[in-house]
Amino acid sequence: MRRLSARRGLLYAGLAVCAMLFFINFLSFQQRDQPPWAVSLTGASAVAPRSRSLSGSRNGTGPPVPRPVASAGSAAAAPRAAPLREPGSNVVSADDGTLLVPEDRHWFFSGGRRKPGPGSLPRELALWPEEDGGDRIVNQLLYRPPPADSSSWPPRKLKKILLYDGFGARLKTGQEEFVRNGCPVNTCELTTSRSQIDTADAVLFKDRFHGPHGQRRPGQAWIMYLLECPMHTVSFKHVQPLFNWTATYRHDSDIVAPYEKWVYYDDSVHFRKQEINYAAKKTKKVAWFVSNCGAINKRLQYAKELAKYIEVDIYGSCGTKKCPRSMGKKCFEKLSNEYKFYLAFENSNCRDYITEKFFVNGLQHNVLPIVMGAHPDDYKRAAPEHSYIHVDDFKSPQELADFLHALDRDDHLYNSYFQWKGTGEFINTYFFCRLCAMLHDEGHQKTIPDLNEWWRGAGTCVTGKWPRYTPERT
Ligand SMILES: *[C@@H]1O[C@H](CO)[C@@H](O)[C@H](O)[C@H]1NC(C)=O
Ligand SMILES: *[C@@H]1O[C@H](CO)[C@@H](O)[C@H](O)[C@H]1NC(C)=O
Repeated sequence: MRRLSARRGLLYAGLAVCAMLFFINFLSFQQRDQPPWAVSLTGASAVAPRSRSLSGSRNGTGPPVPRPVASAGSAAAAPRAAPLREPGSNVVSADDGTLLVPEDRHWFFSGGRRKPGPGSLPRELALWPEEDGGDRIVNQLLYRPPPADSSSWPPRKLKKILLYDGFGARLKTGQEEFVRNGCPVNTCELTTSRSQIDTADAVLFKDRFHGPHGQRRPGQAWIMYLLECPMHTVSFKHVQPLFNWTATYRHDSDIVAPYEKWVYYDDSVHFRKQEINYAAKKTKKVAWFVSNCGAINKRLQYAKELAKYIEVDIYGSCGTKKCPRSMGKKCFEKLSNEYKFYLAFENSNCRDYITEKFFVNGLQHNVLPIVMGAHPDDYKRAAPEHSYIHVDDFKSPQELADFLHALDRDDHLYNSYFQWKGTGEFINTYFFCRLCAMLHDEGHQKTIPDLNEWWRGAGTCVTGKWPRYTPERT
């Protein structure tokens, strides 16, 4: 599985989206389908509630958001005969300049210049999972502690973060990582020297725990960073130490570290008139690039059943089509130009587990992703509105195929799934900036009573469809 994944990683490396490769990070030595960490840890990337409001309203009571047609999140009825959403006041025209003035955007957008001043973010905005109030990734990126008392001397000490399991070559020790990235809060330093554990403010562990044992500096924050989904991580059942924070793709982690992070420029504008017809010249129906044929959620069986009712081209070792890894970029051009739909099927159905298969292969190409993996609510939270189709919204592959045929016949309807383009960005989530900022939220104390239960307790992963009703995770 990991071997296959590594191969796919090479394919992605060929993509033009090389900007991501900039951010090699220290946690990516363990191969997975693609190093999302490339983006997320040193900085880039994402998944979180879009109820955030950049204008700062605590509970996201912004202007009303248009309801999508055939919302993939509405579980019960298949959106078979969904009417096309008529462009309303919330669809801005293609040449509308209001979304396009980069310097007016927050600093984490490309070209954005707006940086928060000390204490400028109302502290009642949520920073921790126990708090409500908007998108915590954005809030953490905008958090700055109140100004230090200027009369205090010596000035605030740097917060020391010990990376207990080391990191890749691109990360620099000391304060540089925080300064180089322009973090609003940069008064932190990184170290990999375990001998400094007694003076560290935070200790970051990666994927497993193997010491230290014994005395622990009071008030120190122990953070468990997990890259893979619960199906592919070790058990923490017998791990004694009490961790304080988690850093995973789960939206209820303390430092949420998603594979990609979508943020709207203006939370009241989710749709924009498009200048191109995304259906034009496409002659093929469904494509899938896949190499792991034995995924636990039986995605291959689903795809094969779907193929009985609509043309599905399976590329890679599980199918009959070939597009060599060395031609990664060409394969994705083919996808954008010739296919209407792409199966962005994850290998496990776990809460919030949404990878680059969806965000990059799907959303960042001109193809409509059909998703399987995380719960419909999770996609709703993480994805641009009306940008995908979830298999759980259909009773069967046959019913899904019927809907795809309907979209295939109606360009207008098909194009409605692309109106999100240009309304926001997949941002760099500056993991270390946020970690540093959170260490400055003085007085916050927290302990996770049972990491194993939090990570893989009941309801975090299923082997088939998500139940219609799932109790809230605690
Ligand atoms: C949101 O905040 C506004 C103003 O603070 C308040 O009037 C409203 O009841 C809140 N709504 C929710 C859903 O909490
Ligand atoms: C982390 O948890 C330990 C053990 O419960 C506790 O003593 C410590 O104060 C906590 N640190 C933070 C920063 O919450």
